[in-house]
Amino acid sequence: MDAPFLSTSLAVLATLFLLALPLSAATHDILPLKSSLFVEEYETNILQSSDGTFSCGFYNITNAYNITSAFTFSIWYSNSADKAIVWSANRGRPVHSRRSEITLRKDGNIVLTDYDGTVVWQTDGKFPNVRYVQLLNTGNLVLKNSSGNIVWQSFDSPTDTLLPTQRILATTKLVSTTGLQVPSHYTFRFSDQSILSLIYDDTNVSGVYWPDPDYQYYENNRNLYNSTRIGSLDDYGEFFSSDLAKHQARVASDRSLGIKRRLTLDYDGNLRLYSLNNSDGTWTISWIAQPQTCMTHGLCGPYGICHYSPTPRCSCPPGYKMRNPGNWTQGCKPIVEIACDGKQNVTFLQLRNTDFWGSDQQRIEKVPWEVCWNTCISDCTCKGFQYQEGNGTCYPKSFLFNGRTFPTPFVRTMYIKLPSSLDVSKKPIPQSSIHDYTLSGLDCDHLNTITTEAVRNMNKIGGEEPKWFYFYGFIGVFFIVEVFFFAFAWFFVLRKEMRSSQVWIAEEGYRVMTSHFRMYSHRELVKATERFKHELGWGGSGVVYKGILDDDRAVVIKKLENVTQNREEFQDELHVISRINHMNLVRIYGFCSERFHRLLVLEYVENGSLANVLFNSKILLDWKQRFNIALGVAKGLAYLHHECLEWVIHCNLKPENILLDENLEPKITDFGLAKLLSRSGSNQNVSRARGTIGYIAPEWISGLPITAKVDVYSYGVVLLELVSGRRVFDLIVGEDKTKVHEMLKKFIKMICYRLDNEKSLWLAEFVDFRVGDEFNYLQAKTLVKLAVSCLEEDRKKRPTMESIVESLLSVDLARS
Ligand SMILES: *[C@@H]1O[C@H](CO)[C@@H](O)[C@H](O)[C@H]1NC(C)=O
Ligand SMILES: *[C@@H]1O[C@H](CO)[C@@H](O)[C@H](O)[C@H]1NC(C)=O
Ligand SMILES: *[C@@H]1O[C@H](CO)[C@@H](O)[C@H](O)[C@H]1NC(C)=O
Ligand SMILES: *[C@@H]1O[C@H](CO)[C@@H](O)[C@H](O)[C@H]1NC(C)=O
Ligand SMILES: *[C@@H]1O[C@H](CO)[C@@H](O)[C@H](O)[C@H]1NC(C)=O
Ligand SMILES: *[C@@H]1O[C@H](CO)[C@@H](O)[C@H](O)[C@H]1NC(C)=O
Ligand SMILES: *[C@@H]1O[C@H](CO)[C@@H](O)[C@H](O)[C@H]1NC(C)=O
Ligand SMILES: *[C@@H]1O[C@H](CO)[C@@H](O)[C@H](O)[C@H]1NC(C)=O
Ligand SMILES: *[C@@H]1O[C@H](CO)[C@@H](O)[C@H](O)[C@H]1NC(C)=O
Repeated sequence: MDAPFLSTSLAVLATLFLLALPLSAATHDILPLKSSLFVEEYETNILQSSDGTFSCGFYNITNAYNITSAFTFSIWYSNSADKAIVWSANRGRPVHSRRSEITLRKDGNIVLTDYDGTVVWQTDGKFPNVRYVQLLNTGNLVLKNSSGNIVWQSFDSPTDTLLPTQRILATTKLVSTTGLQVPSHYTFRFSDQSILSLIYDDTNVSGVYWPDPDYQYYENNRNLYNSTRIGSLDDYGEFFSSDLAKHQARVASDRSLGIKRRLTLDYDGNLRLYSLNNSDGTWTISWIAQPQTCMTHGLCGPYGICHYSPTPRCSCPPGYKMRNPGNWTQGCKPIVEIACDGKQNVTFLQLRNTDFWGSDQQRIEKVPWEVCWNTCISDCTCKGFQYQEGNGTCYPKSFLFNGRTFPTPFVRTMYIKLPSSLDVSKKPIPQSSIHDYTLSGLDCDHLNTITTEAVRNMNKIGGEEPKWFYFYGFIGVFFIVEVFFFAFAWFFVLRKEMRSSQVWIAEEGYRVMTSHFRMYSHRELVKATERFKHELGWGGSGVVYKGILDDDRAVVIKKLENVTQNREEFQDELHVISRINHMNLVRIYGFCSERFHRLLVLEYVENGSLANVLFNSKILLDWKQRFNIALGVAKGLAYLHHECLEWVIHCNLKPENILLDENLEPKITDFGLAKLLSRSGSNQNVSRARGTIGYIAPEWISGLPITAKVDVYSYGVVLLELVSGRRVFDLIVGEDKTKVHEMLKKFIKMICYRLDNEKSLWLAEFVDFRVGDEFNYLQAKTLVKLAVSCLEEDRKKRPTMESIVESLLSVDLARS
């Protein structure tokens, strides 16, 4: 082969290549006019965005949902392990694996046809001079005309996912998908009040379940009636929306540029923000709209009750049985129907801490319980009623739907109508255990909890009683609009007034999550503390005083120093903290934020701190009490870390911050301060100044991002102290305090060795001598082993607080 020939052939090749360019481009991000993608070539013939992030073409859904040879025309994340679909042209109507095709027709429309030529989907518009379809790097599939303008885009018709830069508008919504890629009843859209909401939408039923309908709009930080109705996620993972009080919300827990995300309305009705891990293609959840699964509407069907036991699950109330075993879609039905001839005697069964949200026939105010009872018993269509003790509000219900129990006691009481002839005294009443609530979260690795499984099967609700009266509390809404500008003032004034009467107590019980919480004036607190006379001590965050409120409640008032946030941010943050409610966490009753004063009003806990009790031997803690403290603290922390999101990291756990009540039940204090006292809430910036030598995790010092695992480390140290009754510094005697980590590491090694080799002998020596022989060997061993794993250098190896709670419960004698 001589040189001229070679160069000629190269030239020919180059020419051919140039000629072929438009064609080869077609296999990349462009589909030119009058060309098609065929289902048979679904693996090779796809569009791919120029940076490779997204792919578009036929998608085999056979594997995932087990129906014979089904394909959808979809866009998906190319690099995610599960090839997560972000858009589909034909949800609910898959096409065959043979002869289906998608074509950009001469008239400028994209048309999807099935094996027999049936048009399954098309853009259906008048688009003159269309040149090509292109898949953009944002995941948007667009139709461009000859002047390069976009005349149609997939972003305008989202399915169940919103991508960064994609907008949700007045006319668009996300709709969740059930198993077969069929749209289901959960939607994410602007409500009639222009609030971006999660809404359960069925033919006969519609109800908002996020933002929490039990709170007023301003309490949820939303503005009503901004008709702009635009929402979108930006590249940092922040969400902007016209109804947000500040038009913007911090969303992603991993806020930063360059992470690929998607906001998806999952089949269980929950909205989750996912971040892609580029190296292994997995998704992590960085935000979740409704952390409490049971708050989602319609999960358990008619009459069904969602409760935590400890994972969320559905059950029927006494007197009812599952309509279709294995499928919660249809909920429950009465074992004995109540006829409307009035011949049957009926009674009401009380269900504590339970509510069936919505379908109120009416709202009768300020009536005694008997009147409410009478109203329901004399109306055959009434299935039960909710009654508010205290302010005497009565809600007879025509239908029992959205049933759920609350993990907090005294929230709501429901009375359901049953035939007297039915003996239900031995039937269990679905309840949520307060203690187990911490474990009730969403299982992030396996989304197939019982309720989500139920949702997967969810279809139309076959309601028995078609009468639906829906209130939504419109009255309340209009009232608020009217006095919108005075809303805040009204809110606090009303609270204050009611407090003096009986009503306040009932209201407090009803909405213990927020109502307990209020703003105090500085003057009130001056009075409560008698001009800050009774100083209790000095915590890391400021001076602490004892006070007595007007209602004779003993409280602790903490003067915060170094609060860098302005008043608004401070109050926002407190709104979050105010919802934290757990028996092992010190209650926050309220706050004061006037001029430069920043004070917190906290529950007064009888027995002082664990540090005092443990190291100053005022009270001798026996073994059972120590174990109970370990368990309680673990539960409190697990609650703070809250499900899969690192919601609140304590950052300064130590015996000084664990208080003991009169029953020696532990209550963690000072949580949430890490956020209050730092400029921005982002994890990186959680003020590193906090934390105490001896209890802080090694990554704290090396400058790695702070995660919930720093609390796990501190908990490990506390466990060692609790078991041995000695300060960590006394355990690693005589050493330089700056080398605490080094020494602790050596100490742990020693523990591991002796635990393995000397067993009970060594344990008996290690356990606090004041306990004597009265300790439980198995429990002591579990505690020490847990401490060892909590003190792992590598934070990934440390267990989560939830798994610690589980380990402890498994050796809890009180339970077995
Ligand atoms: C689609 O996927 C399923 C399951 O992986 C497989 O059995 C089937 O052969 C695939 N269909 C086609 C046309 O490749
Ligand atoms: C597919 O569905 C059929 C019928 O519903 C069932 O019998 C079969 O076990 C399923 N196969 C798989 C792999 O799930
Ligand atoms: C392309 O679309 C834009 C916007 O719809 C329109 O203004 C423009 O005239 C179109 N160009 C051609 C050549 O049709
Ligand atoms: C409505 O929302 C838009 C977009 O966020 C904002 O610019 C506008 O000021 C809002 N209007 C009112 C009355 O708040
Ligand atoms: C991504 O996955 C890799 C491999 O599993 C893991 O090592 C890495 O920590 C993950 N990155 C993030 C940010 O989770
Ligand atoms: C209903 O209760 C009344 C009074 O207790 C009783 O006399 C009557 O027999 C009962 N009716 C039925 C159908 O059980
Ligand atoms: C559950 O019930 C619905 C409505 O009747 C039905 O469409 C669905 O197929 C059922 N699911 C299962 C798993 O039986
Ligand atoms: C809605 O209500 C009508 C009667 O008002 C009833 O016939 C129908 O079955 C109900 N649909 C659903 C899905 O419950
Ligand atoms: C009674 O209390 C409930 C719960 O706080 C509240 O929603 C309702 O409006 C109150 N009713 C009256 C009449 O104040």
